[in-house]
Amino acid sequence: MTAVVVGVDGSPASTAAVALAVRVASERHRPVRVVHAFVWPLLHVPVGPSPYGPADGGLRHEAERIVGEAVAYAETCDARVSVSGDVIAGGVSAVLLAASRHAFAIVLGDRGLGGFTGLMVGSVAVQVAAHATCPVLVARGTARENGPVVVGVDGSPNSDRAVAFAAEEAVLRKTDLLAVHAWTGPVSTRPGDMRPLVYDPEQVAEDESRVLFEATAGLNERYPDLLVGHRVVRGRAAHTMITQSHGAQLVVVGARGRGGFAGLLLGSVSQGLLHHAECPVAIVRPTAA
Ligand SMILES: Nc1ncnc2c1ncn2[C@@H]1O[C@H](COP(=O)(O)OP(=O)(O)OP(=O)(O)O)[C@@H](O)[C@H]1O
Ligand SMILES: [Mg+2]
Repeated sequence: MTAVVVGVDGSPASTAAVALAVRVASERHRPVRVVHAFVWPLLHVPVGPSPYGPADGGLRHEAERIVGEAVAYAETCDARVSVSGDVIAGGVSAVLLAASRHAFAIVLGDRGLGGFTGLMVGSVAVQVAAHATCPVLVARGTARENGPVVVGVDGSPNSDRAVAFAAEEAVLRKTDLLAVHAWTGPVSTRPGDMRPLVYDPEQVAEDESRVLFEATAGLNERYPDLLVGHRVVRGRAAHTMITQSHGAQLVVVGARGRGGFAGLLLGSVSQGLLHHAECPVAIVRPTAA
């Protein structure tokens, strides 16, 4: 059974990530694996205890302490979840991505300790979200305990995967699913920019809502008790999803969507949520990716 991997660096954000990892693991009866990347081979400084310092000094000991504390904290979050911990030598993103290859999901804090001593900074979350092959969850903001799981829908294969993951989470958390689709029409911003009104906004809104209903069509049969709400919002997708994350317990999107250019690893919606969501974020992609 593949584990829920959580990257830790001893920062408060990584502690929040541990709690989120335990929650996801507990729901799905999976173990948690705490991972701390230890960069000593790259530092070229002595890492053992100094002959003049305490016997338990040194960076290696510090790394082990970080993992030990995270494991102990994970066990207090939910005693039923089995938790292991590893210190792994290497650069943070590389270590976490390698650990994610055999993981059910990987969970990170939205920022690390920062500065020179920071072993996990915000860019790690972005890099892992861009390159991981499993779902990436980022602990940020406030998860509203009774809020819905919100999913962003644009009709792409990534968004279909996001709907599937979000529905599972909503069922496991015994809450509702809210599927959101944002759309923008041609708008004139200044008099010289006036365009002929070649579309009927109501017709467009109706067409757009079809995207939403098609993406969620199979859910009722699969999860008869799951309440699925639909919301079509006229507005930019990233901004809309950030707004909708307010009051949610989790917001789920695909790594990519329908737009963007080939080679792009994260779209504007997934990136926007990573940086600005008001609640924890899950970024998913089709498993074959
Ligand atoms: N209009 C939308 N309404 C709701 N959710 C959306 C919308 N567009 C995208 N999403 C969500 O965000 C995910 C990522 O799509 P995103 O738009 O960020 O990438 P992209 O389309 O590849 O690139 P671009 O930034 O150019 O649009 C989608 O899988 C979907 O879950
Ligand atoms: Mg898009």
